[in-house]
Amino acid sequence: MPRSKERPRQHRKRTHLVLFPCPFQGHITPMLQLATILHSKGFSITIVHTQFNSPNPSNYPNFNFEPISDGLSVDQAQKENVMALVTLLNVNCHGPFSDLMAQMLSEEDPRDPIACIVSDAVMHFTQSVADHFKIPRIILRTSSALSFITFDAFPLLREKGYLPIQDPQSETPVSELPPLRIKDLPNISTDSSETLYQVVAHTNNVTRNSSGIIFNSFEHIEEAALVKIRQDFPMPLFLIGPLHKYSSGSSSSLLPHDHSCMVWLDKQAPGSVIYVSFGSLACMEKKELVEIAWGIANSGQPFLWVVRSGLVRGSASAEMPDGFEEETRGKGLVVKWAPQKEVLAHPSVGGFWTHNGWNSTVESICEGVPMLCWPCFGDQKVNARLVSHVLKVGVQLENGLEREKIGWAIRRLMVEKEGEEMRNNARKLKDKADLCLKKGGSSYESIDRLVNCILSL
Ligand code: UDX
Repeated sequence: MPRSKERPRQHRKRTHLVLFPCPFQGHITPMLQLATILHSKGFSITIVHTQFNSPNPSNYPNFNFEPISDGLSVDQAQKENVMALVTLLNVNCHGPFSDLMAQMLSEEDPRDPIACIVSDAVMHFTQSVADHFKIPRIILRTSSALSFITFDAFPLLREKGYLPIQDPQSETPVSELPPLRIKDLPNISTDSSETLYQVVAHTNNVTRNSSGIIFNSFEHIEEAALVKIRQDFPMPLFLIGPLHKYSSGSSSSLLPHDHSCMVWLDKQAPGSVIYVSFGSLACMEKKELVEIAWGIANSGQPFLWVVRSGLVRGSASAEMPDGFEEETRGKGLVVKWAPQKEVLAHPSVGGFWTHNGWNSTVESICEGVPMLCWPCFGDQKVNARLVSHVLKVGVQLENGLEREKIGWAIRRLMVEKEGEEMRNNARKLKDKADLCLKKGGSSYESIDRLVNCILSL
């Protein structure tokens, strides 16, 4: 048994935090943003990370980085789906993380005593490590509160026959989870739905043993979900987002940003550009890329389109359809990876065609940019419904990708009256986001509560 288990924890003030992100872009970024906030509040920070998708420590000189072995082969890292990778990581990282914790808690370790582990919810094995060392664990949920209650409702949704989804296009409302319809329920690629349901249930059950839940969200956009979470989860909740609004220039991006697009944006008319990006994981068939390309061209709007490596299934670099470059020359730009937060804040950008990953959704809300929602998997469908139906700052592109429909949907967002209404709503929501971060605002107060909570653990 590690000696640390016996060590009285009250001797020195505990201001050392161990943060463990899940190694995907949409999860690493909010964890590092959270680390930056907590460091500014006087905590010392250790980031434990896998070799797979390792963040760049040189961008964060104030943090201590501890790599651990993730046991993934190059083949697994490249070929497995996200769900399979997460399952492997939860098994493979257990031993190395326990060993590291034992070392950090030993009396020889010069660092301050550890106050708590802050773990991505998806890295659920960290709860058993925390329990073993009698260290509190706070979790970070990187997606919306609405998606959290949706995943938590999976057992009920199975009981009522909504899951497994029989008809992915069904508009039937899920009366237990307004405003979701069956087609808005999360879909995750997996070899076995049964395993998926078990993992989701286990992740949420261990969440019930945590000392608190942090969300990268703010109260104003999650009111209904919050009522439900407060009923079902007794631990403190901290809605402290939008996290990206606190961070400095340091970068958590796993891919290099192509800043040349900012110069191009400077030359475009205000509010004219549709920005198109589907995040770091979503991928599509070649024929879908072709429809998107011609749909964008048909819209007639200036565009900035992120086509990252791997976006088209099975090919490292996606080729544009014949004639697309000639047709759109001077009207748009295709880049491999954009500085998204700056792009969304640029006055030339008037709309965002997004997959509704939660980071992209929050970043768009915070810049007052209305969205064309095209959710691909997981929580994204729930987020898209929140954006289009509750917040009314976006419209969904539904029932398949066809160039004519895409062109029309882009114009609807960018130039039609309906788009103008969404733009007005988006501006108001941006103001709410700005307010929640100011002294007295809900997220500002939540951060104070989080700091006090950690100090009192
Ligand atoms: C994943 C899941 O897909 C998503 O559903 C979940 O909510 C979070 O984890 P991802 O698909 O990558 O994330 O989407 P998103 O959450 O939007 O995160 C992407 C991040 O990459 C954003 O912070 C965005 O600013 C950044 N990005 C994206 C860039 O910096 N440049 C780009 O060109 C595109």
